Amino acid sequence: MDPRSSSAFSSFSCSSCSSLLVLLLLGTAGFFPSCAVEVEVKDASNATCLYAKWMMKFLIKYETNSSDYKNTTLDLLSDVTHNGSVCGSDTQAALLAVQFGEGHSWSANFTRNNETYQGDFITFTYNTNDTAVFPDAKRKGPITIVLKDTMDPVQLNDVFVCHSTEFLEAENVTQIFWNVTVQPFVQNGTISKKESRCRADTPTSAPTVLPTAANVTTASTTLSPAPTTAPKPVENPDTGNYFLKNGNETCLLATVGLQLNISQDKPHLININPKTTRADGTCGNTTATLKLNDGNSTLIAFTFVVRNASAGAQKYHLKEVNVTLLNSLNGSVISTADNNNFSKWDAFLGTSYMCRKEQTLEVNEVLQIHTFNLWIQPFLVKDNKFSAAEECFADSDLNFLIPIAVGMALGFLIILVFISYLIGRRKSRTGYQSV
Ligand SMILES: *[C@@H]1O[C@H](CO)[C@@H](O)[C@H](O)[C@H]1NC(C)=O
Ligand SMILES: *[C@@H]1O[C@H](CO)[C@@H](O)[C@H](O)[C@H]1NC(C)=O
Ligand SMILES: *[C@@H]1O[C@H](CO)[C@@H](O)[C@H](O)[C@H]1NC(C)=O
Ligand SMILES: *[C@@H]1O[C@H](CO)[C@@H](O)[C@H](O)[C@H]1NC(C)=O
Ligand SMILES: *[C@@H]1O[C@H](CO)[C@@H](O)[C@H](O)[C@H]1NC(C)=O
Ligand SMILES: *[C@@H]1O[C@H](CO)[C@@H](O)[C@H](O)[C@H]1NC(C)=O
Ligand SMILES: *[C@@H]1O[C@H](CO)[C@@H](O)[C@H](O)[C@H]1NC(C)=O
Ligand SMILES: *[C@@H]1O[C@H](CO)[C@@H](O)[C@H](O)[C@H]1NC(C)=O
Ligand SMILES: *[C@@H]1O[C@H](CO)[C@@H](O)[C@H](O)[C@H]1NC(C)=O
Repeated sequence: MDPRSSSAFSSFSCSSCSSLLVLLLLGTAGFFPSCAVEVEVKDASNATCLYAKWMMKFLIKYETNSSDYKNTTLDLLSDVTHNGSVCGSDTQAALLAVQFGEGHSWSANFTRNNETYQGDFITFTYNTNDTAVFPDAKRKGPITIVLKDTMDPVQLNDVFVCHSTEFLEAENVTQIFWNVTVQPFVQNGTISKKESRCRADTPTSAPTVLPTAANVTTASTTLSPAPTTAPKPVENPDTGNYFLKNGNETCLLATVGLQLNISQDKPHLININPKTTRADGTCGNTTATLKLNDGNSTLIAFTFVVRNASAGAQKYHLKEVNVTLLNSLNGSVISTADNNNFSKWDAFLGTSYMCRKEQTLEVNEVLQIHTFNLWIQPFLVKDNKFSAAEECFADSDLNFLIPIAVGMALGFLIILVFISYLIGRRKSRTGYQSV
């Protein structure tokens, strides 16, 4: 059976358009005034083979007839058809194709193998003859851009769901997608109940590409969450247990939950997942480095040094933290942050350092690391166990005594002032009487 001989049905649900109208009348147009597109493609036996429902809009920069550039937005407001959508098979790509407005079209093709499916290419054609969108375009006519889809492979027979907003930038166009549900290669005509969520919807894992100034012109930038929803609070990270060995002997021990706070463009919290994080590094007598590698997207290196403290005693402290963010798809470096001027986590050589409360390491202006349940010993580990711990000030129960002590001192001072006032009055009175 030719998979192309598919009958198809598409619907265009515009529930959000009526509210858009209200918003426009109120003069507070929402940032995303688009409608959901729903496409269901059926095969020759009338069974659903491709299903998709999603929201999208386009930001397009174009040259005007006065030779400057303007930005415009193209929304899917009406007249959506899906001519040319194809079910696909083992050997043929599935194709999701829609046409809308005055000669604009968008399509994505998907390939499969035995276990997974994956987006292949996205093709977008916009027509600058559409005077409503491009009133003063210098060049009139269709312009087509093609870009590689950056979607991760999805388990075959899972439905891919992504509520977060995804931006794809290429040439002069930013394509924005949100509330995406898609399943190509549907089995037995039934949309799966098993969802595969995008990374941006699962805030504890690192996004594919972090927003940095350097990559705004290409690739998928996962700027979650959608502008209409408030940022999701991130839970505290899981605590990981890491160690380094020197031969058979453990030489460094670390227990810590780690969270990155990247505040480029928007604050962005990333929890380091201990299950996918490997430790390596170097032990030494005066310097030790613990390197943590989270799923090939984040490298964090902690360097400790030993110094001579007073009375011949030796102490150690955290000296340097170096964070490298990698593109998890191809391993290229997105950004690095380094600070070798720390003097934190200070303890005597031969002891461990503990701080259960949250602490912040300011690596640079845009990157902070929050630590939780910290217990570390970078030097002189004996019998694979932590030695006696020096606890950080934040942990000690003496903390709550401080306000009490301050209050008591203030009260004492007030009493003192009052007494000296009384004494002073009595003295001056006796002074008057003697006159
Ligand atoms: C396909 O199914 C729909 C209802 O699910 C029905 O209305 C339609 O007639 C069927 N088409 C064919 C070709 O069987
Ligand atoms: C168009 O948008 C781009 C990217 O958002 C921006 O850098 C540029 O300044 C904008 N141009 C105009 C004319 O608004
Ligand atoms: C496909 O496109 C043509 C015009 O190009 C249109 O007449 C036709 O109705 C469309 N078919 C469907 C199923 O949307
Ligand atoms: C998907 O579409 C692109 C652009 O039209 C094309 O180059 C590519 O060969 C297609 N992929 C497959 C597997 O057919
Ligand atoms: C540019 O196009 C607009 C709209 O068509 C027109 O009103 C305007 O006169 C044109 N300007 C020039 C310099 O051609
Ligand atoms: C589709 O149907 C076949 C036979 O009825 C069954 O073996 C298979 O597990 C079904 N696949 C899915 C994904 O439901
Ligand atoms: C890795 O991917 C990013 C974005 O997709 C791209 O900008 C970069 O050039 C790639 N690097 C390598 C080494 O392929
Ligand atoms: C993240 O860092 C920014 C800038 O340094 C700061 O304003 C913000 O409060 C931090 N967020 C958290 C949760 O610590
Ligand atoms: C930080 O770590 C990266 C990757 O391990 C390394 O290439 C870079 O040289 C380090 N920077 C400093 C200042 O140590």
